[in-house]
Amino acid sequence: MKKRDLLSLKDISRDEINKVFSLSRRLKREQKGGISHRHLAGKALALVFEKPSLRTRVSFETGMFQLGGHAVFLGPEEIHLGVRETPADCGRNLSRWVDLIVMRTFSQKTLEEMAAYATVPVINGLTDLFHPCQVLADCFTLLEHKGTLEGLRIAFIGDGNNMVHTWMQAAEKFSFSFSLACPKGYEPNAEVTRGAKENGGKVVVTHQVEKAVRGADVIYTDVWASMGQEREFEKRRRAFQGYQLNQGVVTMANRDAVVMHCLPAHRGEEITDEVLDGPQSIVLDQSENRLHVQKAIMVWILKGMKGSGDKRKR
Ligand code: CP
Ligand code: NVA
Repeated sequence: MKKRDLLSLKDISRDEINKVFSLSRRLKREQKGGISHRHLAGKALALVFEKPSLRTRVSFETGMFQLGGHAVFLGPEEIHLGVRETPADCGRNLSRWVDLIVMRTFSQKTLEEMAAYATVPVINGLTDLFHPCQVLADCFTLLEHKGTLEGLRIAFIGDGNNMVHTWMQAAEKFSFSFSLACPKGYEPNAEVTRGAKENGGKVVVTHQVEKAVRGADVIYTDVWASMGQEREFEKRRRAFQGYQLNQGVVTMANRDAVVMHCLPAHRGEEITDEVLDGPQSIVLDQSENRLHVQKAIMVWILKGMKGSGDKRKR
């Protein structure tokens, strides 16, 4: 059987996403009920990370542990990717020891090179271009809060970055609308935007916050300078004035709109404390669901959807 990778949402169909969500729901219920589900007993996961992480690292490591497997974390100091060893050689070697690789890196090309030479599945744990695990967990969280994704109006305020690109790919699969309000010069990748529109995604890019947020069911934001862009921070801080998610913006959306952020948040910059900690914020549910959804992704990618059974009290 050919191995599956998850390098972007192009690698998973809408049906498969729905199956991953069903399994996520079950794994979440079982985990909260103290029922063990060791679907990946004896399996090993390598986390190859060239950027910092809290959520992605801990949710994958803990998830693999709960599924009965083992995770090995390899930070930038271990491998020195591209200096001590190429991504291709790293992928070839890791495949002789582990069953699955999660990689966080800068360029999507580095991830693709790793996946091309690894003989085990590779999952994107964030690149400059995409963050598929985050958006899958976010969609699952929206299903829990809103009951459906269909017809939702999602507004994103901020940078046309990896989160935006991934949301636009998700809009190709689900019939929600996605509107980004960004400053001039910070629009998303033109190829990803065109691809989403050509494939039927209801995607709008505007420079006016009100245009994106009016009537929205979901208001999403992310940092103004992503990992790797730290040196641009001052310039970006100036450019993004007027694109803060604050209470004034929240009141433009529907009354029952939810506030989302992939985290980490830079409080007082892209979002105020009042909104991040306010009653409409579901950011900690998003964060928790990284665990449940990524467990389902790992079972899907390693065992197909058959990974059921084996329910024992912990
Ligand atoms: N949202 C997210 O991926 O968080 P980390 O960068 O902490 O992993
Ligand atoms: N856009 C952010 C997302 C962090 C989860 C970054 O790439 O740093």
